[in-house]
Amino acid sequence: MVKVIECESYEKLSERAADIISEQILVKPNSVLGLATGSTPVGAYQKLVEKYKEGSVDFNGITAFNLDEYCGIDKEHSQSYYTFMRENLFSHVNIDLNNTHIPDGRASDIDKQCSEYDAMIDAAGGIDLQLLGIGGNGHIGFNEPCDCFPVGTHIISLHPSTIEANSRFFDSVDDVPTQALTMGLGSIMKAKKILLLAFGESKRETVKKAFSGPVVPSVPASVLQLHPDVTVLWG
Ligand code: F6R
Repeated sequence: MVKVIECESYEKLSERAADIISEQILVKPNSVLGLATGSTPVGAYQKLVEKYKEGSVDFNGITAFNLDEYCGIDKEHSQSYYTFMRENLFSHVNIDLNNTHIPDGRASDIDKQCSEYDAMIDAAGGIDLQLLGIGGNGHIGFNEPCDCFPVGTHIISLHPSTIEANSRFFDSVDDVPTQALTMGLGSIMKAKKILLLAFGESKRETVKKAFSGPVVPSVPASVLQLHPDVTVLWG
């Protein structure tokens, strides 16, 4: 079931997202969180850091798995998702860094890396709350529109529209990695709860297609209509 909540501003959307995540942590202090990068969740991470500093949320027992990572750049690269997570959340809260996981886009054996990542999620008991953004083309994680719903963690060639969209973070479009490792739609669907954030006029049509249109792999996020517990915050 998908519950869509309209938020009047990015500030409100971020507050609401941080409330949902901190409630999850309060109810289950050893929650396994699935985390996203991109510009949309940055405000929610800021709010979570504020809550941590006020003493109203404790990340000590949390395990985190990120959705995706670029291939072909070092983890210390300024635009890697490893760096993003440290800058936006992990360095500011009391999460044990040993319990934070991001696929290794530099792994020499990609198939092994992907199957190990899925096995680690399973061994942790599965994801309790999965945070998602959504690409303009309907991707979640880096599951790009295609003719099937990929199940597990896998390597993907980024769609030209994703490369174009993400070029805003790089010096030029040619510097954007062309491949990434991403959790599959099956892994995302296995999460007990899902929280998807979408903000801005450019996402309006995508959200409509994903949650009011047919469930089709050409709009990967549409598969979430089949999940029992999805909250979409958008504005
Ligand atoms: C990032 C991710 C992507 C982004 C999506 C939207 O980990 O999984 O699916 O959520 O590309 O990105 P923004 O929020 O920058 O519009």
